[in-house]
Amino acid sequence: MEKNIAVIKGDGIGPEIIERAIDILKKIEKKYSHKFNLEYVDMGGCSIDKHGVPLTDENLEKCLKSDSVLLGSVGGYKWDNVETENRPERGLLKLRKELNLYANIRPTKILKSLEYASPLKVSECDFIIVRELTGGIYFGKHSFETAGNMRQASDIMVYREDEIKRIGKVAFDMAKKNKKNITSVDKANVLYTSKLWREIMNDFAKKDEYEEIEYNDMYVDNAAMQLIANPSQFGIIVTENMFGDILSDEASMLTGSIGMSPSASLSDGSLGMYEPIHGSAPDIAGKDIANPIGAILSLAMMFRYSFNLFEEAEDIENAVYKTIEENYRTADLMPKDKELANKYQKVGCAEMGDIIMSKI
Ligand code: IPM
Ligand code: MG
Repeated sequence: MEKNIAVIKGDGIGPEIIERAIDILKKIEKKYSHKFNLEYVDMGGCSIDKHGVPLTDENLEKCLKSDSVLLGSVGGYKWDNVETENRPERGLLKLRKELNLYANIRPTKILKSLEYASPLKVSECDFIIVRELTGGIYFGKHSFETAGNMRQASDIMVYREDEIKRIGKVAFDMAKKNKKNITSVDKANVLYTSKLWREIMNDFAKKDEYEEIEYNDMYVDNAAMQLIANPSQFGIIVTENMFGDILSDEASMLTGSIGMSPSASLSDGSLGMYEPIHGSAPDIAGKDIANPIGAILSLAMMFRYSFNLFEEAEDIENAVYKTIEENYRTADLMPKDKELANKYQKVGCAEMGDIIMSKI
């Protein structure tokens, strides 16, 4: 198989984790006789420094023309004072919108051998957050104004019926395929967008084709609590953009570290964007201590969702699980307890990548 992949290393720890993922990609390419043509693209703070904007039209075009996009992370203290419209994150939002990546898939899977690292000592749960990614408050009208000597700001949240329907379909199809229950998360006791959301999700639940799926509605505040109280109740969580942003960070800690969690952002076709859910972590950038697993598992998701290369995806995932089983740990996964820590072999970002690669 031949594919063109746009690679965005981004800022902070982005470059070092993506380099590990690329090593693995090259190993897979060789082992399974594929051809992956990589095109490196600037986006985020590094693009502001080089081109004055977080994403140039030319680079956007390169992503649009690719078969898939692999992304590290964007942002950092250095650009904290850049005006909102030109911040590194704007490049990411523009990519999501222009590539029409409306479905963000964020799996949370607990590995038994990482139970100690989870602050809640969760030993079992395996659910997927399906987050709407191109609508809602992120993409509504934003304003910041001063009237007299009073400053005022607003962010408008709008959801159209078709935007909710298409994400609902993704979630229900996924639940059906994976035999999982669905929880739709909203704030329908306060928000009109949520009232519409709930009506549409309930219409799906009533359809014949989804008849066998167990379905419930949940308010977002309760969902935040239930994720801590009883996370194994969840199969698929489908929710709007901002709720999904917040709940997915919360969910990632159940696994022990946000460094473990991959994500896929999908559209109607096969073009997707794949990135770890963690940020650019500028405080640890360049120190070879970041956890590359989120990026490596994102690559596995690319093989599965964009290219239908299931064996290759499993090969990568098994290599990651085996490495964890064999007690290799990056700093974020090391136990605080000194005695317990003796059981594990602490490795840096590059070494972690090499060990995973050796198991493919
Ligand atoms: C995420 C991130 C982004 C978001 C930021 C960087 C704009 O937090 O992918 O979850 O809020 O969507
Ligand atoms: Mg987030």
